[in-house]
Amino acid sequence: GIELKGRDFLELDDYTTEEIQYLIDLAIELKRKQKNGEVYQPLKGKTIGLIFEKSSTRTRVSFEVGMYQLGGHALFLSKNDIQLGRGETVSDTAQVMSRYLDGIMIRTFGHDKVEELARYASVPVINGLSDLAHPCQVLADYQTVYEHKGRLKGLKLAYIGDGNNMAHSLLLGGAKLGVHVSVAGPEGYEPDAAVVAKARQIAEETGSEIVITRSPEEAVKDADVIYTDVWASMGFEEEQLKREAAFKDYQVNEELVKGAKSDFMFLHCLPAHRGEEVTAEVIDGPNSFIFDEAENRLHAQKALMAALMG
Ligand code: CP
Ligand code: NVA
Repeated sequence: GIELKGRDFLELDDYTTEEIQYLIDLAIELKRKQKNGEVYQPLKGKTIGLIFEKSSTRTRVSFEVGMYQLGGHALFLSKNDIQLGRGETVSDTAQVMSRYLDGIMIRTFGHDKVEELARYASVPVINGLSDLAHPCQVLADYQTVYEHKGRLKGLKLAYIGDGNNMAHSLLLGGAKLGVHVSVAGPEGYEPDAAVVAKARQIAEETGSEIVITRSPEEAVKDADVIYTDVWASMGFEEEQLKREAAFKDYQVNEELVKGAKSDFMFLHCLPAHRGEEVTAEVIDGPNSFIFDEAENRLHAQKALMAALMG
C-alpha cells in the first residue's frame, strides 16, 4: 500500500507516479463522499496552519473548508500578523509551530523559504505556491483532466505563456504521469532550465515527451489540454507593461485553439485576465473547465491533508 503520512509536499518530483495517482484517486473518492453527503473526518482534533505571504482566494478557502470537512481546524496566518513578517527566523517559526500544529501550508516568494520551513518543521509542510512551484494546483489540474478524459498517459498538454511556477509544476507532474507537455513562450521567459532537465529525465522513464518552443501553434497542435496563466505573477506586478509587450503573440484565442483537438480542455489556475493571456471566448467557452478545476483544489487538498496528516 501507499503510505504518505508525515511527508512534506513541496514539488511533484518528490513523489512517485504511483503516489501522485494515489492522491488523484483519493481526491476523486473524497469528492464522491462529499457529494453524497457522507461525513468523513479522519483529521478530528488536528490543526493545520496556513501561512500566506501573498494573496489568495482559492488556496485559502479550499484549505480552510477542506480541513473543516475532514473534521480538523485551519488557522489563517497572514504575514502581517505573525512574527515571521517582523523578522523572526524561519527555523524558529517552524520549530515553534510544530509544537502546536499537525501540518503547515506556506505560500511565499522564494522556494528556499518553503524548503527551510520543511527542514526545521517536524510536521508535514505543504507548498501552497512559491515562485518556483504550485504543486497543489497541478494535483487538482491533472485530477480534472483525468476525470474528463478517463486517462492521463499519452495525452498532450500545451502550456502557453510565462515559464513560471505553473509551467514548472505542470512539467514535472506531466512527466511523472506520462503526459506530453509542450511549453511555448517568448525569449527570456522560458521555464527554469534545471526544472526542464529534471522533467526530461523523469519523462524518459514514463514515455512522456517534453517540448520547449517559441511557437504557440506548434505547442497546441493536436493538444488535449491547453493551459495558460497570467503574464505577470505575484511579485512581478511592476513588470506588467514590459510583459504585455513580450507576451502579445502568446494569447490563447479562438484562432490559436483551432490547432488543438476539437474536444480540447482549456484550463487556467486563476485568477485570469481576460483579453490578456486568454480571450473571454475561450475561457468562458464550451471547452473551458476552469470551475471544475477550481473546485478540485478542495478535493485534491483534502486528499493531500488526509494522506499526510491522517
Ligand atoms: N490558483 C490559485 O492558487 O488561486 P489563489 O491565488 O486564489 O489561491
Ligand atoms: N503564476 C501565478 C499563479 C497564481 C495562482 C502567480 O504566481 O501569481
